[in-house]
Parts: sequence; C-alpha cells; structure tokens
Amino acid sequence: MADEVLRLEKVCKMYNVGLPSQTEVLHDIDLVLRHGEFLALMGPSGSGKSTLLNIVGLLDRPTSGRILIKGRDVGTMGDAEITHLRGHTIGFVFQQHLLISAFTALENVMMPMLADRGFPGPAIAARAQDLMARVGLEKFAGNLAMNMSGGQQQRVAVARALAMNPDLVRADEPTGNLDTKSADGVFELMRQVNREGGTSFLVVTHNMDLARRCDRIIEVVDGRIRPGSGAAA
Ligand SMILES: Nc1ncnc2c1ncn2[C@@H]1O[C@H](COP(=O)(O)OP(=O)(O)O)[C@@H](O)[C@H]1O
Ligand SMILES: [Mg+2]
Repeated sequence: MADEVLRLEKVCKMYNVGLPSQTEVLHDIDLVLRHGEFLALMGPSGSGKSTLLNIVGLLDRPTSGRILIKGRDVGTMGDAEITHLRGHTIGFVFQQHLLISAFTALENVMMPMLADRGFPGPAIAARAQDLMARVGLEKFAGNLAMNMSGGQQQRVAVARALAMNPDLVRADEPTGNLDTKSADGVFELMRQVNREGGTSFLVVTHNMDLARRCDRIIEVVDGRIRPGSGAAA
C-alpha cells in the first residue's frame, strides 16, 4: 500500500542451511512500517533482532517469506537492483559508529554520496555540511572522527545515514555504547529527524525509557513477534 515503507510477510531465516548446525532464528515474521513511523524493536539478546534488521536493510535475504520496500517485492530483484534500492532508500546506524576514524566528520558524511556518484563535488560537501548542522555539529565538521566523543560520533553516524535522504533508517542498538545523557541526545536527534523530515525509523533498543517515546514497541522473543506487541498492520 502507498503509505507503507516496509512490509514483511511470513519472513523466516535459517542459518547454516543443509548443515548439521542448521537453525531457524526467525519464524513467520509479519511486520508493517508506515511512512513517518518510529518503531522500537525490543527483546532479549539472541532473539533475532539483528538478523531481522539485516534483512530489513537488504544486507541479507530471508530463507522464505516476502519483503516489500515501498510496495516493491525485493524477492523479484537482482543484486544490482537491490544495491541501488538499499543505497537510495535505507539509512544505517549501528551500535559501533563505524566511522572512518582518520577521516573528518564531514568526509564521513560525504561517503555515501561519493559512493553513489563516484566523484566529489561542491553540492556533496554542501549537503554534508547541512547534515552536520542538522545533527548539531556544524562547528565540528573538520574534526577527525577519532577525536570526537562517543555521542558526537554517533551523531555523525546519524548524519551519514541521512546522506542519501532515505525513506527508512534502521538502527541496531544505536545508543548501546553511550552514557545515559549522550544516549538521550542521540535518540532525541533521531526522533527530531523523524518528526521534521518524515523519515521512518526502526530502532533496536534495550532502554525502556527511550522505547516509550516511540510510536510503537515491537517485541521479538525466540525469533517470533510477541503476540500483542505492536506489529499489527
Ligand atoms: N551468521 C550467523 N550464523 C549462525 N547463527 C547466527 C548468525 N548470526 C546470528 N546467529 C544466531 O541467531 C540468533 C539470533 O541472533 P541475533 O539476530 O544477533 O540476535 P539479537 O540481535 O536479538 O541479539 C542467535 O542464536 C545467534 O547466535
Ligand atoms: Mg543484535
């Protein structure tokens, strides 16, 4: 449907298919995320949250079931089409900021745009500078990533995730390495980006205080969405 950014239908994921160690870690996941929604994904360690986010981020394919991004069935697409869709539709934030530490904050934010265009240009630098301002770090654009605090680095990671103006940002424990105050700031930043720009978010967190500020909370337990938690379409 037109207002959906993401739809998962009966998604299953098995690891080590065909080996004695074969295990199914996601079972029949149904999930819908509408444009502009901010969803928290909670659940115990090992329940399958990261596996689910990797599938949502088109980094991995489900073993069975369907994934639709903006109504388009990803299962029918080839690798090149998926790479393009991923680059232009989905932003990524991880628990570790995964910035290139010897590059400046600005250069890190430029990176997805350079990867897409293949050449630097004034428009790319200008957009990266705007994004630095959006995450409250306009004065730090020239700082090396390695010389920034954990909270600042994660703000830069959020700016980088927004570089290609994605419809959806999937963030896997983005505040898991931060102290309470920095975690609160990074979370509030994502919420603000969501409210102002309409970007949808799917965020894994163990922090109930943060999760309560989301539109819905979905719980994953043993590879299934807990009945009664907020995944319903
Ligand atoms: N690449 C892999 N190969 C085999 N098993 C995996 C792999 N990745 C994760 N798992 C297993 O899948 C389950 C879910 O893991 P994960 O999605 O990382 O959970 P969570 O993010 O909720 O902690 C765990 O039992 C984990 O050991
Ligand atoms: Mg995880």
